[in-house]
Amino acid sequence: MAIRKIVKLGDDALRKICKPVDKFNLRLATLLKDMADTMYQAEGVGLAAPQVGILRRAVVIDCSEKRDGLIELVNPEIIARSEETQCGREGCLSLPGRAGIVTRPMRVTVRAQDRHGEFFELQAEGLLARAVCHELDHLDGVLYIDSMEREMTPEEIEADNRRAEQQAEERA
Ligand code: NI
Repeated sequence: MAIRKIVKLGDDALRKICKPVDKFNLRLATLLKDMADTMYQAEGVGLAAPQVGILRRAVVIDCSEKRDGLIELVNPEIIARSEETQCGREGCLSLPGRAGIVTRPMRVTVRAQDRHGEFFELQAEGLLARAVCHELDHLDGVLYIDSMEREMTPEEIEADNRRAEQQAEERA
């Protein structure tokens, strides 16, 4: 297990257009594994390669409650998006302690490659669709703060966290 350092807002890596992955080798497998380890340790739902300083088109996402639903997307592209939208909270591991209200499509279809270079399609809805849009934006140097409707206040974030904790307890 290797945890990489997550770069923060202000680092140039977050504002670059990433290059496609062209070699599906051990180096890519190691990068994806390290990105997943880093995302889980930071308790995030997604992480893009530029967030660990690697300017390549690769992201990892896990929106599952049990943290056992890892998705790896290499050279991903959104090929369809719903007209229906969702408006809600979004944060980023590169902007710790902050959150904003962002509108995203309710559903997206993504075409991507896996770590071996095989193409596949993913249908994403709700939180997963939001995570896909957020992580793919990272590959083009775009951050959620560029498109958010407004920043949430620390008080709002605190209240929202409490609500989420209560919901988790009720489910348990
Ligand atoms: Ni992010």
